[in-house]
Amino acid sequence: MEHYFLCPECKAKTLLPVCRVCGYEIPSANSIYRFCGRASEKSEGEYIGYDNIGEDFEPEVTYWDANNTERYGVYAACGDLIAKKFGSDICVLDLGAGLGTASIPLAKNGIYTIAADISAVMLSTAAKRARGRYDNLILAQMNAYSLMLPDSSVDIVVENAMIHLVDKPELIIKEIVRVLKPGGALIRYSSPGLPVSEEEARQNQLCSEAVSDISDHYYKYLEEHNYKSTVFNTNYREVLDEYFDKPYSEAVEGFVEEFTDKMRFRLHRMKTGAHSDLQETPKELINAAWQDTDRYAREKYGDDYDKIKGFSRYGAALDIYAVKK
Ligand SMILES: C[S@@+](CC[C@H](N)C(=O)[O-])C[C@H]1O[C@@H](n2cnc3c(N)ncnc32)[C@H](O)[C@@H]1O
Repeated sequence: MEHYFLCPECKAKTLLPVCRVCGYEIPSANSIYRFCGRASEKSEGEYIGYDNIGEDFEPEVTYWDANNTERYGVYAACGDLIAKKFGSDICVLDLGAGLGTASIPLAKNGIYTIAADISAVMLSTAAKRARGRYDNLILAQMNAYSLMLPDSSVDIVVENAMIHLVDKPELIIKEIVRVLKPGGALIRYSSPGLPVSEEEARQNQLCSEAVSDISDHYYKYLEEHNYKSTVFNTNYREVLDEYFDKPYSEAVEGFVEEFTDKMRFRLHRMKTGAHSDLQETPKELINAAWQDTDRYAREKYGDDYDKIKGFSRYGAALDIYAVKK
């Protein structure tokens, strides 16, 4: 499938990699096309890109890659369902694609997938995970405020955990609506909780309480040392309601996943500062907060506190939003 983009220089419709109108060659390095980030480009809104987070966003990426295993869990199940429901002869834009967790399973299904993210750091891990296997996967450093894609050119936009990281969600939602073909849809993945036994619930409760306690200690330390949160207080849900019909949900039949690593994940993110609200926090302060928190947790829960296991069980589902007529 050939797909048109917009030239970042003259905004004409073009194929990759050279603009057929102005001759500009869209820069690419490490398999990532660069559609934004030029010094002259003015962003229309604020956002939190994950340049300072990278692989730490998903601690398991390193582990899985090191073991040469591919585990995309809910994301794979949702990607498979998209292919089953809509076929593979479609173009999907994965907006705020991050480490490629949604994009790679979509591409694996033969779907023409544009993995767009403001952060080339995040996309470089997506490139590493894709290992050059998919000609139908385009990695694009693009700002969601100004998508370098023509009107009505994409069948589906997938958006997961990105829209709360911007201060003007309406501008981005308008961009999503603009690039969607008539009859196209916005899809957000979800992982609805499934029943657990009393014992599993009890185990999970203990873990959750310890995680919140440790996390409270960490943030209290940061606050006492003048940390400023950079999380945007957005109203994206209301904006979604304005532009899209009420979403309907389609579950992936038979998919069940169990997760016990809540403690390990949260500790990893505290230790590395891999969280959107810590983007402006100096690394020295993150380290100091972590040292203090680790000491606190060892005293209270014992040296093995990082091994406390939680328990949750969930499925996978697509929340499908059709554009309001
Ligand atoms: C929490 S991560 C989610 C990544 C991925 N969707 C997932 O579910 O694993 C959010 C991603 O959105 C990206 N992002 C934030 N603002 C953006 C913007 N204005 N344009 C494009 N990407 C953006 C960040 O760089 C980051 O990689």
